[in-house]
Amino acid sequence: MTWRTGITELLGVRYPIMQAGMGVAAGGRLAAAVSNAGGVGCIGASRMTPEELDREIAFVQAATSAPFGVDFLFPDLGERTASPQEGVSHAVDPKLRAEMLAVTYRRRVPLIVYAMKLPAGAAAEAHEHGITVMTLVGTARHAVRAQQLGADAVIATGTEAGGHTGAVALSVLVPAVAREVGIPVVAAGGIATGAGVAAALALGADGVWVGTRFLATRESSVHDDVRKEAVARTEDQTVISRALSGKTCRLATNDFTAYWTTHEPRPFPQQAVEINRQGLVLKGLRDGDVVSSPIPLGQSTALVDSVEDAATVLADLVGGAERAVADLAGRLGSGVGA
Ligand SMILES: Cc1cc2nc3c(=O)[nH]c(=O)nc-3n(C[C@H](O)[C@H](O)[C@H](O)COP(=O)(O)O)c2cc1C
Repeated sequence: MTWRTGITELLGVRYPIMQAGMGVAAGGRLAAAVSNAGGVGCIGASRMTPEELDREIAFVQAATSAPFGVDFLFPDLGERTASPQEGVSHAVDPKLRAEMLAVTYRRRVPLIVYAMKLPAGAAAEAHEHGITVMTLVGTARHAVRAQQLGADAVIATGTEAGGHTGAVALSVLVPAVAREVGIPVVAAGGIATGAGVAAALALGADGVWVGTRFLATRESSVHDDVRKEAVARTEDQTVISRALSGKTCRLATNDFTAYWTTHEPRPFPQQAVEINRQGLVLKGLRDGDVVSSPIPLGQSTALVDSVEDAATVLADLVGGAERAVADLAGRLGSGVGA
């Protein structure tokens, strides 16, 4: 079956199924596997040095000629400049941000995703390099603003999502965004099955952005114990917390999130800088401390039943969506006029 949506057209890909950028978890290996299978792989560049990013992009470009993306977790800090103590974090170091962007421009990466607010001028700059730009949004208002700032598509992130997320459910957010903007809308949050893909498209999305399900693949660069958590957990074993960065972020419930229910996190970006200084995200995702470190995880953890290759996951999402659509057409068709 040939799929045609605003995202397959925009990026020239077979399937509008995008693997979410996930810091630490999504390197070149995962991105290449997804793009090679007909989806859109995405390197999660937060916590990489420019040299590491260059290496990961080179890996993808050697492995596939298909489009792929790089996801940045840069906030829009306006005129704010970093103090030397804060220089450790991408979140607050403008020099490091500029170097990271320069790597993507030089390497002619097809797609950049701005995970936090799209800074003014960022889309125009990327377009000069022939790069497509997307950004994550949690409300229709932010989607309209992103369109005004030149985004080529928005990724509407429902509250179900792992990592930074807002309060609006995907079932409301996607149609609310789709009716306000004239650019393609990608749905994120809680999508881990083919039926979920079909449902997102039915709500008005042109594609999907899937994190948690791809976290549990062999190609993700996390500790095996993190994959095991993604398989084992139920839908009520994640929580939205400001403990990771000062902004709302969905994490697996554990001793880390429990501690921060009785302590007040600092505002963003100070909390992010502190957690970064303690190396806690690496301790969790890379070293497998799933008890006392932050583990970003979506509610769709409930729907992840096994660890698979990324290509198997992509094929399952595609086949499952096609089956869901056929099944629904049959059910509605037989009901008509009955
Ligand atoms: C382990 C993990 C790390 C993440 N890191 C990032 C990140 O660095 N940048 C970003 O834009 N989003 C990040 N996210 C959020 C994802 O990009 C995406 O929005 C989310 O996973 C989609 O929801 P889902 O997990 O329900 O599929 C992360 C998510 C997870 C699970």
